[in-house]
Parts: sequence; structure tokens; C-alpha cells
Amino acid sequence: MSKLLSDIRPVLDHTSCEQVQLLGKWVWGGTGEAVAPTPLLITLAKNGGILLAAYLPDGPDELGGMVGFVFGFPAYERDIDGQTVAKHCSHQLAVLPKFRRKGLGLQLKLAQRDAVLAQGMTDRITWTFDPLQRANAIFNLESLGVTSQTYIKNAYGDLDDDLNIGLTTDRLQVDWNLTSPRVLRAIAKQSQDNLSHENLYIVSAPETDRDCNVHIPTDEKYVILAVPLPNKTDARATSEQSNLCLWRQFLGSALTSAFDTGYTLSGCQELPNMGHHYILIANPKT
Ligand SMILES: CC(C)(COP(=O)(O)OP(=O)(O)OC[C@H]1O[C@@H](n2cnc3c(N)ncnc32)[C@H](O)[C@@H]1OP(=O)(O)O)[C@@H](O)C(=O)NCCC(=O)NCCS
Repeated sequence: MSKLLSDIRPVLDHTSCEQVQLLGKWVWGGTGEAVAPTPLLITLAKNGGILLAAYLPDGPDELGGMVGFVFGFPAYERDIDGQTVAKHCSHQLAVLPKFRRKGLGLQLKLAQRDAVLAQGMTDRITWTFDPLQRANAIFNLESLGVTSQTYIKNAYGDLDDDLNIGLTTDRLQVDWNLTSPRVLRAIAKQSQDNLSHENLYIVSAPETDRDCNVHIPTDEKYVILAVPLPNKTDARATSEQSNLCLWRQFLGSALTSAFDTGYTLSGCQELPNMGHHYILIANPKT
């Protein structure tokens, strides 16, 4: 698909913050609960937060041509030694449906990466995404080179927006180590880990609740795990709700057990005739 080059600018005034809010409401639907209120957006954007918007000449007039935004703020966490370390916490990324698959989401994340590195406080960004969303999985893991070892059950409680209604808000927290070789390879569109089929263990897709207690082999010969994910995810379609709940339970069990066993989530790839799978590796390349 042909790519577009957008003008990406920081958002600092209240009119542009209101446009960000409106764009968020169009993307997530529901009552707009998913989008931060304007005073909070402005306060964060003027105090070390990074709120960037992408503009195109044919973007909607109501939004002043804005077609997407990315938003995050400085944060900290404890490392494995209990030390406090700085990071940037990315809260939201959105591109209007009409302008997707044209490289704008990637441009926004790369602009966010540049802005965080320019602040000079950290070279690490984390955020969460819904493991049921295949598009986000491919975007994050393959295009950006994130990894994950953290599964958070019901991270945000019940949300009423179009993507979440009727489902628990389980999320994967991802690590984007901005200057790591993995991220530089992803940005340069170079291949990552070599998937050897000899060492690959493929978990079967769930058919009933009984398949949702997933056993992850501890046999050392399996250094790569492939865990399937659903093709289509539409939480608004009531016909799909029970199927999505099944996949939610299955992925929760498979990914949590894999992390507990020492695997790192490092890809989302299509296996021949088997659809897309999460790829988890015992020792991924950094
Ligand atoms: C996720 C989102 C921001 C991606 O924005 P986008 O502008 O469409 O992304 P890009 O065009 O830069 O895509 C970059 C790559 O990501 C992958 N990708 C993006 N959308 C995809 C999809 N629907 N299916 C499969 N792969 C996809 C592709 O590899 C794509 O490269 P390609 O088009 O050359 O194949 C957009 O879909 C969105 O706003 N979704 C709703 C909000 C949301 O879920 N935000 C959270 C994001 S973690």
C-alpha cells in the first residue's frame, strides 16, 4: 500500500487538545471515556509529556487536518534490583481509519522515539496493548521491535468503548528499548530471530474452555514457542463475544505460563497455512 508523509507537530494549545480528544472519540467510540480530558492533556504536554499530532492536507477540517496522535509522559519503575529507573510511559496512539496502513502510525512512533531521546532522561518506552488485537501485535512486535514479558490481567477494569465492550481489559506491557540492536533492526526493516522449525513448539488453538489451561513444555529442546491468536477481533459483534472470551482466557494462560517459564515475546508472524502466531523465544537477540 502506498505510504504518506505527514507533518508531525507537538500539540500544546487547548484547541489542538480538543481536536486530539475528538479524534480519540472517533477512533475508540463509546462515551469517550478512553480519551484524557483537555486540561490533563495540556498539563502533561506542558510539563514533560509528549503529545504529537500528524497532519495531512486532506485531513478532516473539524480536526484542522489532524489524522493521528501519540501521547505519553515521563515515568519511572523499579528494576530487578529495586532501583528506581526512568522511562517514558506511552498512553495512546491513534490514526483515523481512513488513513491507516499508510505508514502514519510508524511515523508517529518514530517521532515519539526522537522526542524521548532528545529529552535525554531515558531510552526506554513502555505501553500496553490488547493481545487479541492482531494488527497492534504485528505493528508493535514486527514494525517497532518491542518485546514483552508482562501480562496484566484486567489492566483498566471494564471499558465501554467499541474495542473493549464485554471483555476484560487484559493487556501485554511492552518494552521499547530505543537504542537496542533489536529496535534498530526493526526500524531498518531487517529480519530478527531465525525461526528454526526443529526447536519450535506450536500451541494448538482453543476449541473449548478445556483448552484454556495451557501447558508450556519445559523441555530444553523447545527454544521457540508459537501461540496462535484470533484472526478477526470485533468486540461489538455479539456473535463473536463468547469466542473472544475463549481466546482471552487461552492467551492469558498461554502467555502467562510462557513468561513464567522464561520465554520472551518477540514476534507475531504468519506460519505457513496456520495463521498468525505470537513468537516467544527462550533467549531472543537483544
Ligand atoms: C495501530 C494503529 C495506530 C496503526 O496505525 P497505521 O498508520 O495504520 O500503521 P502503519 O501504516 O504505520 O503500519 C506499520 C506496519 O504495522 C503493521 N500493521 C498496521 N496495521 C495492520 C493491520 N491492520 N494488519 C496487519 N498489520 C498491520 C504492518 O506491518 C504495517 O506495515 P505495512 O503496511 O507496510 O505492511 C492504527 O491501526 C490505530 O489507530 N488503531 C486503533 C487505535 C489503537 O489500537 N491504538 C493502539 C496501538 S498499540
